[in-house]
Amino acid sequence: MKTGITGATGQLGRLVIGKLKEKTEVGSIVALVRNTGKAKDLGVEAREFDYDKPELLAESLKGIEQLLLISGSDLGQRARQHANVVNAAKLAGVKKIVYTSLLHTGNTTVSLAEEHLPTEEAVIESGIPYTILRDGWYTENHTNSISGVLAAGAVFGSAAGGKFSSAARADFAEAAIVVLTEAVHDGKIYELAGDAAYTLAEYAAEIAKQTGKNIIYNNLPAAEYAKVLESFGLPGFIAEAIAGWDVSASKGDLFDDSHTLSKLIGRPTTPLSEVVKNALSAF
Ligand SMILES: NC(=O)c1ccc[n+]([C@@H]2O[C@H](COP(=O)([O-])OP(=O)(O)OC[C@H]3O[C@@H](n4cnc5c(N)ncnc54)[C@H](OP(=O)(O)O)[C@@H]3O)[C@@H](O)[C@H]2O)c1
Repeated sequence: MKTGITGATGQLGRLVIGKLKEKTEVGSIVALVRNTGKAKDLGVEAREFDYDKPELLAESLKGIEQLLLISGSDLGQRARQHANVVNAAKLAGVKKIVYTSLLHTGNTTVSLAEEHLPTEEAVIESGIPYTILRDGWYTENHTNSISGVLAAGAVFGSAAGGKFSSAARADFAEAAIVVLTEAVHDGKIYELAGDAAYTLAEYAAEIAKQTGKNIIYNNLPAAEYAKVLESFGLPGFIAEAIAGWDVSASKGDLFDDSHTLSKLIGRPTTPLSEVVKNALSAF
């Protein structure tokens, strides 16, 4: 069965391709990418696939039986872009779609749901057998800025005592592999999150423990936190969005204790301490 992976040159997509190569024939994997030049090192067939070029999508899906649609990164454009992909999948006769959505989409204040929900609806209404992976927060969303934390001696945020049930990106990649390689997941919507939840104060304490440095958690009102992010060079609308996601976390919207992810992948999710350790090993 030929499997197409969109966003294959992104961080999640690369992990999925790497793991899928261990499980299936390399010749059955197709990387669907914006820039085929970036896909040379993937070691699989690569076809041009830009969500913004609807006229090319169905042709690139020729012969693809199952499709992993990894959500795009262009905030505000994604519902339209993903609809282009679902329409092309219908035209091309794709037999199964797996979509990476957002934890508790439909019942969350996380603004990202505004784009994931219409995509889920488009996938379901397409009539193509589907599995929806509602991915929770990547732990790396926090550790990506660990150098700034070390420099400032503080984690900044607006999540107050809200708990993050995050998991490593690799855990979510493995969940995608499971549903792509097993036949029993059609029609399922999985809420995927890490086994252990933590507050940002506990995250700061973990960094302090591993480095021996004094790292505090500085909880700020959302507008102030957005200003801090802007001062680090983020565009205003992204800074406001990130601060808003923290406010959602403070309401419990990034918490989940269903353990669906670990049940699906058959092992515990990667602990916070390990992701922090990996991030610190770069210094
Ligand atoms: N759960 C979470 O905490 C979390 C965090 C961040 C993001 N996400 C979502 O999960 C997705 C995968 O995460 P990631 O870490 O792999 O993100 P990433 O490294 O930013 O990868 C995003 C991928 O989407 C591709 N893409 C963007 N716009 C596209 C377009 N118009 N047409 C075709 N491909 C397009 C990018 O292509 P290029 O390689 O050409 O740039 C890239 O391969 C993200 O795109 C985002 O929707 C989730």
